[in-house]
Amino acid sequence: MGKINSRLIVLSVFVSLIACSAGSSLLRPVAEDALKLQSSGRIVTLDTLKTGFRLYVDHCSGCHNLHVPKEKTKEHWEAVFPEMFLRTKLSVSQQELVKIYVYSKL
Ligand code: HEC
Repeated sequence: MGKINSRLIVLSVFVSLIACSAGSSLLRPVAEDALKLQSSGRIVTLDTLKTGFRLYVDHCSGCHNLHVPKEKTKEHWEAVFPEMFLRTKLSVSQQELVKIYVYSKL
């Protein structure tokens, strides 16, 4: 019985850790991000943002830690993207998804 209890405690700590990191919306796409873009006239779904985020994680964290989008202005990102995309193998449409994701977080 004690063993089961401690397993349950470990499990619930683990679950709440996951919940916490999922709750951090600094990086992770959330529904409001898609709504924000939609209200500015673009048709963007949460799935689109999630795909962009995945590409961002997979292709933009090999040389440095991920940059939190909000830490820079849109103008700054616009200036940085071309140079950074040259360092990846992202296709033009994948680059577009990364941009949409980053801009949804500003
Ligand atoms: C091949 C290595 C490499 C890859 C891949 C890479 N970067 Fe970088 N990145 C760098 C280096 C080196 C710097 C710092 C020096 C510089 O700015 O050139 C940097 C700097 C940055 C900066 C800070 C620049 C500034 O002036 O604020 C941002 C933002 C950034 N990268 C975003 C990205 C994004 C987005 C991607 C994916 C599309 C990416 N990086 C992929 C090497 C890389």
